[in-house]
Amino acid sequence: MKKLILDVDTGVDDAQAIMIALADPNVEILAITCCSGNTPLENACKNTLRVLQKCSKLNIPVYRGCEQPLLAEPRHAGDFHGKDGLGDVPDPDAPGLDMLQKEKAQQAMIDIVNCHPGEVTLVATAALTNLAVAVQLDPSFPKNLKALYIMGGNTESRGNTTVCGEFNFVVDPEAAYIVLERYTCPTYIASWEFSCRNSLPWSFIDTWLAQSTDKACFMECISRHTRKTAQSADYQGEQTEGAGFNPCDAFALAAAIEDSLVIESEEVAATVELEGTHTRGMMVLDYMKLLKKEHKVTIMKKVDLELFKKMMMASLQ
Ligand code: BDR
Repeated sequence: MKKLILDVDTGVDDAQAIMIALADPNVEILAITCCSGNTPLENACKNTLRVLQKCSKLNIPVYRGCEQPLLAEPRHAGDFHGKDGLGDVPDPDAPGLDMLQKEKAQQAMIDIVNCHPGEVTLVATAALTNLAVAVQLDPSFPKNLKALYIMGGNTESRGNTTVCGEFNFVVDPEAAYIVLERYTCPTYIASWEFSCRNSLPWSFIDTWLAQSTDKACFMECISRHTRKTAQSADYQGEQTEGAGFNPCDAFALAAAIEDSLVIESEEVAATVELEGTHTRGMMVLDYMKLLKKEHKVTIMKKVDLELFKKMMMASLQ
């Protein structure tokens, strides 16, 4: 069994990631911790509970994390995933926030990992605020992780939020900096450019959503708004390469549970630029080894797309 903790800011692509993990019989999700990002914290928590309810997995504990970045002004993903982060689809039966655990997310991560040292993989698909706070609370936390998978950052200074910045890193640049400095466990990064280049053809998305299951119906509804925005000519122009559907967070999650998914990657030391009008929050890759950092991250380059499609299909069955 692969033991996972998911750190999310549940918008539509976080929901897709969560559903891939829930569908895998070899995965045990020990906790889902929420952070402000795509949508304010309360929404991120509510959306997470809605996804779990749809998959009959409300027994998985969900924790409230940070409401604000460490230093940066709070920002959210605007209308990309709808105002509520989940496509603005009314859900009168949504679980209440009283279902959340009482313990704070960061302490819960530490406690859970301490119970299973070296066994837990942390998948972070939000701003890295909760992770930065966790390592402040317990500096030994990263070394007790099996691995860390991050969706965030960029490799060629191509932004999706600022000129040179990817959303999750731009939302909390200081947190991203701290994580790349202090998480010396094996760290894998699904960057913005990587996710664009591995985007899925729209024809596959039609097949994926046409499955006659409740989960497919739910995904079809919550992703309608995002798909419309993503298909607009303006948005396609913003993607670096590979016009198609980009389920960014799902790549990080799928890589965490399926070792053979990533078929091309490279190892390099990485940090985050904290200054600059256009460069704050940009990931910096030190190919020249000038930073003298011992710890290198693995930058994902290419996935086995057929395997990824299989995992996507299974997530809605
Ligand atoms: C990232 O930003 C968020 O909007 C998505 O959920 C993803 O985690 C992509 O830059």
